[in-house]
Amino acid sequence: MSDYPFGNPEIVEEEIDILLIGGGMASCGAAFEVMKWVEAARADGVDLKVKLVDKAAVDRSGAVAMGLSAINTYVGENDPMDYVRYVRGDLMGITREDLVFDVGRHVDDSVHNFEKWGLPIWKQPGDEGKPLKDGGKPVRTGRWQIMINGESYKWIVAEAAKKALGSENIQERVFIVRLEVDRNDPTRVAAAAGFSVRENRLYVYKFKCCLLAAGGAVNVFRPRSVGEGTGRAWYPVWNAGSTYAMAAECGAELTLMENRFVPARFKDGYGPVGAWFLLFKAQAMNAFGEDYQKKNYEDLKTYGYDAYAVGPKMGTCLRNHLMMKELKEGRGPIFIDTPSAMARLAENMTPEEIRHLEAEAWEDFLDMTIGQCGVWAGENIEPDKQMSELMPTEPYLLGSHAGCAGIWCSGPEDVPGTPDHYHWGYNRMTTIKGLFTAGDGVGASGHKFSSGSFTEGRIAAKSMVKFALDNRDWKPEMARPVEAIVEEIYRPVRTFLAHKDYTTAIDVNPHYITPKMFQFRLQKVMDEYVAGVSTMYQTNAKMLEVAERKLEMLREDSLKMRAKDLHELLRAWENYHRLITAFAHMKHIQFREESRYPGYYYRADFMEIDDKNWKCFVNSTFDRHTGKWQLRRVPYVQLVIPANDEPEGISRPASPV
Ligand code: FAD
Ligand code: ADX
Repeated sequence: MSDYPFGNPEIVEEEIDILLIGGGMASCGAAFEVMKWVEAARADGVDLKVKLVDKAAVDRSGAVAMGLSAINTYVGENDPMDYVRYVRGDLMGITREDLVFDVGRHVDDSVHNFEKWGLPIWKQPGDEGKPLKDGGKPVRTGRWQIMINGESYKWIVAEAAKKALGSENIQERVFIVRLEVDRNDPTRVAAAAGFSVRENRLYVYKFKCCLLAAGGAVNVFRPRSVGEGTGRAWYPVWNAGSTYAMAAECGAELTLMENRFVPARFKDGYGPVGAWFLLFKAQAMNAFGEDYQKKNYEDLKTYGYDAYAVGPKMGTCLRNHLMMKELKEGRGPIFIDTPSAMARLAENMTPEEIRHLEAEAWEDFLDMTIGQCGVWAGENIEPDKQMSELMPTEPYLLGSHAGCAGIWCSGPEDVPGTPDHYHWGYNRMTTIKGLFTAGDGVGASGHKFSSGSFTEGRIAAKSMVKFALDNRDWKPEMARPVEAIVEEIYRPVRTFLAHKDYTTAIDVNPHYITPKMFQFRLQKVMDEYVAGVSTMYQTNAKMLEVAERKLEMLREDSLKMRAKDLHELLRAWENYHRLITAFAHMKHIQFREESRYPGYYYRADFMEIDDKNWKCFVNSTFDRHTGKWQLRRVPYVQLVIPANDEPEGISRPASPV
């Protein structure tokens, strides 16, 4: 027993007004914004206490941990309505346009702040040194994206968040496991509980409201990088679906959880493609040098996918679809022609400018996906001399990139035409009172990226302060006693201590399962039955039935996970969150009987896009006591009129539901 002194944790209970869960872009935005409104309340004689809690260290946590080389949402000279049209088109016609518009109209102010705090933003010749907010013209990769020197992006943003909130109000290395509802009102959140990943300590925070912004979900599916490459993924491996799982278990309604993201990436290193396609204008091709996007265009008609494309203009999933056809039919590998792109760019350059261009090619990855440089160096690939392979990755669940899984939220009140079911209360509040979200947490509104997630955190912070003030006399009371929560969170530790001496091999024991083995099982089920890479992203009702049975057994076995140290306790709960997220994803795919997102996944038994029946949101709720999911269709309402150059499918009427 003495080898394992962590059996009984110290319990720390705190009561505050507003808790921010996560220290990523959304929470940093919230931390920055919240204090302005807290100060205003203080001037009126109300003192509100705010705390931020992150499982890692805010300076380098979340998806921006390694840095980024572009800010993918900067509206600038564009119209925010066109931003809505772009997002709607990319997400196959179904988005919460009120939420997207809200991000679009506010995002630039956040980017201007980043620049003020020291983030270097590339400028067009002649505008160097002129800030964006004073009219400095950025180097745009695409219509919405701008280039940055962003290896310190997260540090810069974290510093601003810390300065605003005060380091004493930030608790790092605490993993939140559960949200607790209120004793007198089960539709209201009252507390969050978690544990320190460094010390034998458990935290319970009671509050009036909280922001759940713990990012998306990675490693739910078996990754392509196995064996010697294990651990590499595109989205950050430390985002384990906590946002979706904790929201679902607290009773919040989820939306579009069927919408995963499968990014096409530089093979093995997961290097992003945006700068190469948009800035360097590189061409992708099949093994025979053919432009598969042109060649396969007519094929989009087979299942009606062409209704969501106009010539070469099509969303991310459709571009994937055209690439996957080549791979399925044996015309891979897919190459990205970096040498021709660089040669074209270098045509009128001096040798010094060419050296700079080469440096930029490497820097694009050194800024945010250093592993890709490792692959290039290890395989002797000089991008100006040799092409690289592209590959669609394993699926991820997220709400801020080119995907829109997440939680169903109330939107802003001032967008004309907003129906009642889009707006029922505080902006970015979920269907659970006092539970707010932002960034990857908000469903049905992708393409926020780093700047939009930060902005959404700010939007949520402002309405959380209003909520806290409107509820200033309310006292949170947890539905369960603290002891019950401690026992639940430390169950993997107890299981280990009770049974560890039964066998001589510590990892082999009939009474428990290691978190690692649990994760392998989850990934195998998701990969083989829920449209992972091993079936080329295809599934059907029968496969999903098998998946459901296996996931249900895994849910039973989750009670048997062991933790031999705090690190394993972290892994155990991360995997539990992954499991609940996986379940939601599977149930949503099962419910939506069409292939709305070809190139992300296919329902092989319903290959068409079926606007008549499915141009709507799919929402779900979970009852954690019975383990049952309930799904329903929710009407999609178009708020922004289609432009002339939008695909035909966009103007097709939505399903009456
Ligand atoms: P994150 O920023 O991921 O933050 C999640 C936070 O939650 C982290 O602090 C994490 O430690 C914490 N957390 C997780 N679980 C728990 C828990 N249980 N308890 C406590 N804390 C928890 N955007 C761009 O604009 N430009 C780009 O070029 C770009 N490139 C990208 C490249 C990559 C490889 C990736 C992964 C993302 C990229 N993005 C880019 C997107 C951008 O990073 C995300 O949109 C944004 O970070 C999402 O913000 P978030 O706050 O929702 O999540
Ligand atoms: S990153 O976030 O990891 O850097 P990525 O490089 O794929 O992602 O995308 C950056 C931006 O470029 C996103 O806004 C994405 O939608 C856009 N993008 C990437 N590839 C293309 C393409 N072929 N055509 C149009 N837009 C693209």
